[in-house]
Amino acid sequence: MNNTANQSVRPKTCNRNKNGILEIGGIEIPELIKQFGSPLYIYDYATIDSITKDFKKAFEGRDIHMMYAAKAFMTKAICKIMQKENFGLDCVSAGELYTAHSADFDMKNIVFNGNNKTCEELRIAIDFGVQLFSVDNFTEAKNLDKIAKEKNVTVNILLRITPGIECHTHEYIQTGNIDSKFGFDLTQIDDIVSLVVNEYKNLNLVGLHAHLGSQIFETQVYHDAVEVMMREAKLIKDKFGLSLNTFNIGGGAGIKYVESDEPISIYKIADVIKKSFDENCEKYGIEKPHLYIEPGRCIVGTAGITVYTAGSYKQVPNGRKYVAVDGGMADNIRPALYDAAYTAEKVSYADEEKEIVTLAGRYCESGDILIKDVEMPKLQEGDLICLYDTGAYCYSMSSNYNRTLKPAAVIVKDGVAQIMVRRQSFEELVENDEIPEMLK
Ligand code: LLP
Repeated sequence: MNNTANQSVRPKTCNRNKNGILEIGGIEIPELIKQFGSPLYIYDYATIDSITKDFKKAFEGRDIHMMYAAKAFMTKAICKIMQKENFGLDCVSAGELYTAHSADFDMKNIVFNGNNKTCEELRIAIDFGVQLFSVDNFTEAKNLDKIAKEKNVTVNILLRITPGIECHTHEYIQTGNIDSKFGFDLTQIDDIVSLVVNEYKNLNLVGLHAHLGSQIFETQVYHDAVEVMMREAKLIKDKFGLSLNTFNIGGGAGIKYVESDEPISIYKIADVIKKSFDENCEKYGIEKPHLYIEPGRCIVGTAGITVYTAGSYKQVPNGRKYVAVDGGMADNIRPALYDAAYTAEKVSYADEEKEIVTLAGRYCESGDILIKDVEMPKLQEGDLICLYDTGAYCYSMSSNYNRTLKPAAVIVKDGVAQIMVRRQSFEELVENDEIPEMLK
């Protein structure tokens, strides 16, 4: 079974060269920092290309729509890459739709998800030509039907269901279990289908959607989710005479953040999903199913790294040594929010003595720690440090906390580095600020 990019800590082209310097995309990292500044998000094109190709190969011959979950990292450039790789998008806000539209993305190849899409967002989605909505709840179904009627269109919908499957990931990123804010409980399916069939004439129900959680390291949950969706489809067919044939299995494939993580090969996940599809299509008499899958983290997570510069340090008497870097929780909230673990390396390594340090962020909060108690070569002020696997849910969850500037994100390929998102400027930082008349 082939190893896929999500099973390595480092991006494909990231290696230490003979001078002991880490390079990526054929460029030494210090060169990139000189050119684009620190901190910096760097994305390796080859890694994204490799994992998207693996997805396509793993599902070859199937009627499958690969929808990149834009929430993981969304910019116009990533839309261009996904379009090139023949991936659609899973979008969850008007902002994501707008980004896709401004990158000339094919809006027909988008599924619109989310548990509280506003009426304005639903209108924008229809106007942009989005054709598949994953309806999450009763309120949305009512609103979407009303808006579609106003616009004199019929929209295709999936019903997002909570299949009652628990996966063993962080509680905050589990979504498929019963006590979840997302989707219809299985006991509510009859009521919503009845409404759609009898009252919501501008909604065309074509299938079901389930997303189980994120950073998943097991395959059985995918098998079970397919089974639950198909079983429910059969119940719907028996009761309402409606044949559903579109099934969206969500995202969730895990990546390797630290050596002890054991994420699963995309081929293995695909095999389980395909097998469950085949078995359950036969069992429940479902013909010509269309399959949707929405990977986010594993498409961009491993491809991205963040490079920081070491600054001050503090040796607590008889305690920890803290080395602070020029970024932290505003560019990567994941350690503070989820206790997420990361792997770090010193960019230029000349066989220095090693010591245990705690890599701290620069933000005014004690919880702003990137990695606790990690063995690193001795660090001096000005040394560059690379954090791996920051391609997903770092830039997209970044903030301007402490009024710091969001770093730039660049993409590297075959010795060329180009900007995907510029570093914010101070002018941009205050651009929406107004001084009210009463304060002048
Ligand atoms: N589809 C749906 C409906 C989702 O809610 C998500 C993620 C995905 C697909 C993509 O899942 P992925 O393949 O990336 O695991 N901020 C958290 C992750 C939240 C994921 C939310 N939903 C983190 O940093 O770990």
